[in-house]
Amino acid sequence: MKNIHYYFPLIHLVLCFLSASLAISTTNITTDQSALLALRAQISADSNEILAKNWSSNCSVCDWIGVTCNSRPRRVIALDISNMGLSGLIPPQIGNLTSLVLLNMSKNNFYGELPSEFAQLRGLQVLDLFKNNFSGDIPPWIGLFHELQYLDLSTNGFTGIIPPFFSNLSNLGLFAVEYNSLHGNIPQEIFNISSLVTISFVGNSLSGGLPDYMCNNLPRLNWLTLSLNKLNGSIPSSINQCSQLQVLSLSDNQFTGLIPKEIGNLKALVKLNLGRNSLEGKILILKTFNSHQLLKCCSN
Ligand SMILES: *[C@@H]1O[C@H](CO)[C@@H](O)[C@H](O)[C@H]1NC(C)=O
Ligand SMILES: *[C@@H]1O[C@H](CO)[C@@H](O)[C@H](O)[C@H]1NC(C)=O
Ligand SMILES: *[C@@H]1O[C@H](CO)[C@@H](O)[C@H](O)[C@H]1NC(C)=O
Ligand SMILES: *[C@@H]1O[C@H](CO)[C@@H](O)[C@H](O)[C@H]1NC(C)=O
Ligand SMILES: *[C@@H]1O[C@H](CO)[C@@H](O)[C@H](O)[C@H]1NC(C)=O
Ligand SMILES: *[C@@H]1O[C@H](CO)[C@@H](O)[C@H](O)[C@H]1NC(C)=O
Ligand SMILES: *[C@@H]1O[C@H](CO)[C@@H](O)[C@H](O)[C@H]1NC(C)=O
Ligand SMILES: *[C@@H]1O[C@H](CO)[C@@H](O)[C@H](O)[C@H]1NC(C)=O
Ligand SMILES: *[C@@H]1O[C@H](CO)[C@@H](O)[C@H](O)[C@H]1NC(C)=O
Repeated sequence: MKNIHYYFPLIHLVLCFLSASLAISTTNITTDQSALLALRAQISADSNEILAKNWSSNCSVCDWIGVTCNSRPRRVIALDISNMGLSGLIPPQIGNLTSLVLLNMSKNNFYGELPSEFAQLRGLQVLDLFKNNFSGDIPPWIGLFHELQYLDLSTNGFTGIIPPFFSNLSNLGLFAVEYNSLHGNIPQEIFNISSLVTISFVGNSLSGGLPDYMCNNLPRLNWLTLSLNKLNGSIPSSINQCSQLQVLSLSDNQFTGLIPKEIGNLKALVKLNLGRNSLEGKILILKTFNSHQLLKCCSN
């Protein structure tokens, strides 16, 4: 028994080493280069021919515009092709960029669904797809990106529900899915991610209510915008526990009941918009604002 006890960790270690080296040998900088060439080949509009001219196999992928590499091992760790007027589908080879930490494709016209191979990008910390034309469901495998700090899927054509994929996203600071066509309830797990600073779901068709404990676990939240949806029920009185809140926008929904007096205790608040709901009551603000701070306060 004693021997087994001693040998087990060693065997475990050998197995870990084996699987780690297998994983390393399957993708390398050459794979990264072919993945990016596959992406380039999918791009149907490159109005300024930035990639067509610059992403040349004659020079190292690490010298390509928008590409950042690590030195040891030499791998692509960041891809920023934002705001380049690009249009196209994302090819499955994107999933071979397994060392990617940052992906910024914002402000282009990429379209179609995110391929399932994308799920292999487990080290992603930043995923910015803002302002494209992606469609289909928000993929549940985003929940596998445990390092994710920044997720912006706003201003696309995503449909379906917000999947309840949040239990392991304990580093997420920004989560924005503004201006898509999402429906269904807001998954309540979101309100348990205590790292969240920004939640923005403006301009969808989300319905149902906000949980009473909404702000019990969100000590860092400073931006909560849920305007232009179909949310109902009352505004949770736990709102004052989101004590860092600077922007609170719940307008153009179907909220009812009294405006919780706790809103008056939010000392950091600079913008409050509750208009176009069926709320009652008024807000007593017990603070003096700095002259450069703007308070927009709208009720019915
Ligand atoms: C990457 O791996 C392939 C085999 O999988 C190998 O042929 C190639 O030389 C490797 N490239 C580098 C730069 O190590
Ligand atoms: C691509 O762009 C980078 C950064 O602007 C530049 O250093 C590099 O020389 C360019 N490569 C080609 C082949 O144009
Ligand atoms: C790349 O190399 C090929 C020959 O190997 C050459 O014909 C081509 O002009 C080169 N392209 C660039 C962008 O330098
Ligand atoms: C992505 O790029 C855009 C435009 O180039 C920039 O404004 C934005 O801050 C970038 N996103 C991240 C997360 O750095
Ligand atoms: C890269 O991805 C494609 C599509 O997912 C796959 O067929 C290919 O085998 C992968 N690996 C390499 C080394 O290119
Ligand atoms: C967005 O993509 C859809 C197909 O998914 C296409 O019909 C539509 O024209 C695209 N919109 C723009 C602005 O490119
Ligand atoms: C969260 O991580 C744990 C441990 O890695 C795993 O068992 C669980 O399935 C994960 N949950 C989700 C929703 O990804
Ligand atoms: C949120 O966390 C609390 C404990 O802090 C737990 O009781 C509750 O079930 C969690 N809610 C969800 C939806 O995960
Ligand atoms: C909120 O709307 C849902 C339908 O989306 C309905 O089932 C529920 O009763 C409503 N709740 C309140 C408090 O009005």
